[in-house]
Amino acid sequence: MSVKETVLVTGGAGYIGSHMNIELLQSDRNVVVLDNLCNANKASIAAVERITQKSLTFVEGDVRDGTLLEKLFASHNISAVLHFAGLKSVGESTSEPLKYYDYNVNGTLRLIEAMSAHDCKTLVFSSSATVYGIPEQVPLNEDSRLDPINPYGRTKLQIEGILGDVHHADPDWRISVLRYFNPVGAHPSGEIGEDPHDVPNNLMPYISQVAVGRLDKLRVFGGDYDTPDGTGIRDYIHVVDLARGHLAALDYLADGPAYAVHNLGTGNGYSVLQTIAAFERASGRKIPYEIVARRSGDAASSYADPTRANEDLSWQAEHDIDKMCEDAWRWQSNHPMGFSD
Ligand code: NAD
Ligand code: WQD
Repeated sequence: MSVKETVLVTGGAGYIGSHMNIELLQSDRNVVVLDNLCNANKASIAAVERITQKSLTFVEGDVRDGTLLEKLFASHNISAVLHFAGLKSVGESTSEPLKYYDYNVNGTLRLIEAMSAHDCKTLVFSSSATVYGIPEQVPLNEDSRLDPINPYGRTKLQIEGILGDVHHADPDWRISVLRYFNPVGAHPSGEIGEDPHDVPNNLMPYISQVAVGRLDKLRVFGGDYDTPDGTGIRDYIHVVDLARGHLAALDYLADGPAYAVHNLGTGNGYSVLQTIAAFERASGRKIPYEIVARRSGDAASSYADPTRANEDLSWQAEHDIDKMCEDAWRWQSNHPMGFSD
């Protein structure tokens, strides 16, 4: 009889983590979530359990709390960790850098210490395309120049360095660093999705809230980039494809010790105007917008070369921009005020 594997998902009440929980439960794993709910709603956990008809263990607490981690690893037989917990607002990281180094870097250090103490040495880490900074050229592959331009991005690059050092010192570790491009969309059930606490910083949740009537209009940051329509180009990836990329990474790590870095993106770039048009098609709503000045720190164009993930992980993003918008809209229109509805 095979014993079910137990996986710890830090930050598992959040946007990507909640979608991850569904994939993990559906792949017949036990799931323990650790989340301090600083940017999440516990209702996401209940929704995951409804969707999957399976239960998970939720622990409300902080990944920086070594004592709590010690108890957690002592009381669950955790074989792998998916580490999503952290802060992700680029603007806030510039005004409160120490908070970002504390949550992201210290949080990861405490986690690795607890994992080491319990001989749990399989880790998948949520990195970001933000480690590339402003691309010298696109598409970006994993060997492209790393030059983050804000504290948030620097925390991600520092953590990548720490994880590389941990593996170098003890090659038994199995570490997968996944650099996400722009995760969007929602689970097709429409029962979980992105639910920003404040006014959204990111394009897709902003458009969704305009479509549902919570915000008046979108401000398009810059119409004079050197791109076909003058607006910024990004590699939007469906959050379910992204979560499945993590399952593929776990399978990859099961083959043996490793330190591997992979881009998770589709390889396709869409401009802001193309994304608005896709959302209008999906929702049947008009998205009023005005073109304003560029946002400081934005690249004209950023999209992935996902070849390494395609080949090593036998993984490929399946959902196109229309499906991303349809699922984002189903979530937003079912829950105009997010989880507080
Ligand atoms: P999110 O804010 O929805 O999820 C993060 C979760 O971590 C939240 O539930 C939050 O409450 C929790 N958390 C934060 N600090 C914690 C702490 N100290 N202890 C315990 N829990 C804590 O964000 P997300 O979009 O789901 O992102 C997940 C991860 O992916 C983050 O590490 C983020 O940096 C990374 N990432 C996100 C994107 C994106 O655009 N969404 C892109 C690249 C990388
Ligand atoms: C996309 C495009 C904007 C909002 C950010 C982080 C990155 C990663 C993903 C975590 C750009 C334009 C946006 C708006 C707009 N997160 N835009 N009006 O900047 O590519 O990446 O999220 O790791 O680190 O920096 O994503 O969604 O903010 O912007 O015109 O109100 O939409 O200028 O061209 P970005 P985004």
